Amino acid sequence: RDLYGAARRNSRGVEFGVAADRDLMLKEVWSFRADEVAAAPIVDGRHVAGTTRPVLSPVDGTTRVGTVVEADAATAIRAMEAARRGFPAWSATPVETRAAALERAADLIEGNRDRYLALLAREAGKTLADGLAEVREAADFCRYYAAEARRVFRDGGTVLAGPTGEENRFRHRGRGVIVTISPWNFPLAIFLGQTAAALVAGNAVVAKPAEQTPLVAHETVRLLHAAGIPEEALHLVPGDGRVGAALVAHPAVAGIAFTGSTEVARIINRTLADKPGPIVPLIAETGGINAMIVDATALPEQVTDDVVMSAFRSAGQRCSALRLLYLQEDVAPRMLEMIEGAAREMRLGDPSDPAVDIGPVIDSEAKDRLDAHVAREKAAGRVAFEGALPAGAYAAGTWVAPTIVRLARAEDLTQEVFGPVLHVVTWKAGELDRVLDGIGATGYGLTLGVHSRIDATIARVCERLPTGNIYVNRNMIGAVVGVQPFGGSGLSGTGPKAGGPDYLLRFALEQAISTNT
Ligand code: SER
Repeated sequence: RDLYGAARRNSRGVEFGVAADRDLMLKEVWSFRADEVAAAPIVDGRHVAGTTRPVLSPVDGTTRVGTVVEADAATAIRAMEAARRGFPAWSATPVETRAAALERAADLIEGNRDRYLALLAREAGKTLADGLAEVREAADFCRYYAAEARRVFRDGGTVLAGPTGEENRFRHRGRGVIVTISPWNFPLAIFLGQTAAALVAGNAVVAKPAEQTPLVAHETVRLLHAAGIPEEALHLVPGDGRVGAALVAHPAVAGIAFTGSTEVARIINRTLADKPGPIVPLIAETGGINAMIVDATALPEQVTDDVVMSAFRSAGQRCSALRLLYLQEDVAPRMLEMIEGAAREMRLGDPSDPAVDIGPVIDSEAKDRLDAHVAREKAAGRVAFEGALPAGAYAAGTWVAPTIVRLARAEDLTQEVFGPVLHVVTWKAGELDRVLDGIGATGYGLTLGVHSRIDATIARVCERLPTGNIYVNRNMIGAVVGVQPFGGSGLSGTGPKAGGPDYLLRFALEQAISTNT
């Protein structure tokens, strides 16, 4: 049940152990042909011309997944103008119609599951397990925000009784044109989550997907149009940072939903602040130096499983992923041995092979950055473990092996390392407050894990820090829409939490109308 008790089913997965279901899924995924997806800017439902480039798969660096026509600043402006024209009619569309379109979109996403799995594997290097989780999350966002829109927004508003002797009506309405800027690590779920929320709240949207993943975004915009979102209300502008900059600077922007780095969030914030005209809200979900605290009472097998899952799955390319593990000194050697053993068993390779645990990182820029970090740590003698890279056909892909770095002090990790690199420090009994202060001092506050069998320790961890998502005796990734609202504080973002009961409100204006009767 959701926070407000609404009965709503989250999307279901596939049990890989049931051969018939798994094989049917694999047949569909593997029959997807290369080079058949063409993406382009979509303005008022029509493609706009521009520069075409191939989209290459990170799996081997050479397979063409499709092509994308990229938008330039002029196309971005054209999309903003179209959205401005499309806003009034969509804003006046009944809430029920808007919500029903999202529910149809959820059905279509599930209906196209295997095509999405293939595309997520090829374009973003996502394993089947990660792809499935993402398809489910995308469908969940649509259904959850549809249900939430019905709960929070009412056509005509709500009459509030009161002592004024007048009729007082309170209502929400769309803000105008919302720009959504989304990341490559969830090219379907976050792209769609931000866009669906803005749309169902009555806004027109110009969506700018990550440069690395335009194909999934293009498919999804077409799908939303097919589900009943008017072409005038939703426009797509694939392209690089210059496109994003043109959108943010446009006078019609009424709000921005951004997921990406803290640094880019700051740039957007500055641009908005310096612009003449209204004060424009920014919803930013950014990164984290996410920590997990393990004390001497924790269950070693459970810790091993959860650490490996949180740090290395999805090639560590989740904002929620574990970056810094605090092991209590007494149990550290044994725990580390188990974690290294489990990491050694992880298989890197073709993400559409169900036996593979870790796919490639997104592109060569990401690989170079991660390789440079690991090289520095190696030179300092701090790399305790490095897994094996895939060979042969995949040699040219952008692989980074799971790596464990032993640090003397937590402060040695000064920035988010967005990949399968786990940093480990130890702490002594009696130092919990110091550990918590250190985590707080990073300024980030996205996810935090704690493994302990002492209730007082767990309570202390949960009370001390304002971290957005705290996970107790479990892994720390994969927040479930509607029941584990996701998002952080401080350097990790502005809130409100995606998939939570306050999210839609930030996309709406509030209005009170008082009539002397
Ligand atoms: N929502 C995702 C997760 O919880 C974000 O990285 O893992």
